[in-house]
Amino acid sequence: MRVLKSFLAEIVILLFVATGAAFAGGQTEVKPSPSAPSGPIPSLAALYKPYFPIGAAVGDQLLDQEGPFIASQFDSLVAANDMKWAIIHPVPGNKPADYNFAQADAIVAFAQKHGMLVRGHNFVWHQQVPDWVFEGADGRPLSATKAEVLARLKEHITTLIDHFRGKVYCWDVVNEALSDGDHVWREDSPWYKTAGTSSKGDDGVPDYIIKAYEYARQADPNVKLFYNDYNIESGPKFEHALQLARILKAKGLLDGIGIQGHWQIQSVDPEAVRHAIDSFAALGLQVQITELDLSVYRWGDDSSLSSLPADREALQTKDYGELFKVFREEGAAGKLTGVTFWGVTDADTWLNNFPVGGRTDWPLLFDAKLRPKPAFWAVAKW
Ligand code: XIL
Repeated sequence: MRVLKSFLAEIVILLFVATGAAFAGGQTEVKPSPSAPSGPIPSLAALYKPYFPIGAAVGDQLLDQEGPFIASQFDSLVAANDMKWAIIHPVPGNKPADYNFAQADAIVAFAQKHGMLVRGHNFVWHQQVPDWVFEGADGRPLSATKAEVLARLKEHITTLIDHFRGKVYCWDVVNEALSDGDHVWREDSPWYKTAGTSSKGDDGVPDYIIKAYEYARQADPNVKLFYNDYNIESGPKFEHALQLARILKAKGLLDGIGIQGHWQIQSVDPEAVRHAIDSFAALGLQVQITELDLSVYRWGDDSSLSSLPADREALQTKDYGELFKVFREEGAAGKLTGVTFWGVTDADTWLNNFPVGGRTDWPLLFDAKLRPKPAFWAVAKW
């Protein structure tokens, strides 16, 4: 029986290789192949069509280098950096020359050419936002009044939504506004410091958050508005995110929640993720995994490996397989509407510079040479 099973598994793999065809479901006998077959590989985007779009975070350079591969594996894109304030709107003012749309436009053009969706990321974040946004007339840091900051925010959001109207289907309006500690809000954010008070009737939600969503809704009532954050699938941050989602949804300002999905092998709990997806969906929101990667280092481990040990690779493969089982079930139930990887290969992952600079990590499904890792097969075969 065992021999027959492995023979059948071989046939299935050979079929994949021979036809490059997409097929999904029913392959529970087939274990992820530790040595991925060479040759054409199935398209994740095609395999997951019945469930949700499969996305990747990219830059325009990566598209130049790996365009055909990216177009074959993904049907959704997000700019890893190119729509962030510091890149797209680096200098004060609201004239066309004050914006730098070139790289973001290249990503959007690529997506349109290949029939891919584009997520917008992001308007409000405590990182990659220029100092001038918070400077008052005296030029001192964080000396702007709340009214000045909100006026800049409105201009920025309106300009970006106008520019990408009809091309970007959703925006991460506010990114990472919740605290990791005991506090609810990220109080060291320049947004919180300058525009973080809460108006009467807003349940303690900082004004800059409510305003950002109002400006975005006004600019385009059709584009989908998301709140995006990490570690919001469990613990106090989950409760805080749920509460924020409830408030924004009740105001008619929120359409979806992005669970980033920056996880580490062995520490991600697929059932907690399922529960979080169910809870946000129960509010009438769509839910997406927006920045998926699975580091092979535990959080807080600052050691550095020169190659990927087999046992960690096996754990990663198992975790990816279990996560995508939950994702498929939640997708089939209409609750999960997208899964985006934060990068394409282990060569372009941001985790090669975070949280430890200059060390190698292996968090994605493809290795540095675009070859599918065992984790790919755990996601592609079920
Ligand atoms: C990261 C980019 O990938 C890096 O290139 C950049 O240096 C820092 O930002 N959460 C987010 C993303 O919402 O925007 C971050 O992207 C990763 C963490």
